Amino acid sequence: MIASTMIRKIKAGDAVAVARLLAASPGAAPWSPLDNPVPPDTETADTETFVAEHDGEVVGIIVTRVAADEAEILNLAVLPTLRRRGLARGLLLTALAAARALNARRAFLEVRESNLGARAFYSRMGFTEFGRRRAYYQGPAEDALILTLTLD
Ligand SMILES: CC(C)(COP(=O)(O)OP(=O)(O)OC[C@H]1O[C@@H](n2cnc3c(N)ncnc32)[C@H](O)[C@@H]1OP(=O)(O)O)[C@@H](O)C(=O)NCCC(=O)NCCS
Repeated sequence: MIASTMIRKIKAGDAVAVARLLAASPGAAPWSPLDNPVPPDTETADTETFVAEHDGEVVGIIVTRVAADEAEILNLAVLPTLRRRGLARGLLLTALAAARALNARRAFLEVRESNLGARAFYSRMGFTEFGRRRAYYQGPAEDALILTLTLD
């Protein structure tokens, strides 16, 4: 990962930067845990959000939820100007380690079939195709591929 970058838990002051980041990342889900009225320091027990900070600016985010022994990646985005420098890798490894600590044994996520960049990333990280949800996405309508990774 690039120098002067750190990964940490999200905090309330990140709201504007996270909104900017998600607006610049059409492949990501257009929401963050900071959109809802629950302050991040009281975020639900099973949802965890990490951000990547570069030179003091939030440039990446990952949101995960753990239920029983399964972790779900709910959102992942890196600022376009800082892609292909290992930031998503660092975010994903941090999130998966936290999920493992909560006894998750498998991770799942959904990705647009046409999102070839994200699919290449997840494939590189060891995820494999598990299934498909037909017309899962709107605007434009598109299938979701369900990807999975064993965490042991
Ligand atoms: C997908 C995304 C998070 C990847 O972030 P990133 O920080 O660029 O990823 P990394 O630098 O950690 O990539 C690690 C490896 O994954 C693969 N990879 C990542 N992005 C890739 C791309 N666009 N095309 C092909 N391979 C890719 C490469 O093997 C890469 O290693 P390399 O750069 O040494 O070749 C980023 O492109 C993004 O924010 N996209 C928009 C939002 C989105 O689609 N989110 C996923 C929703 S499910």
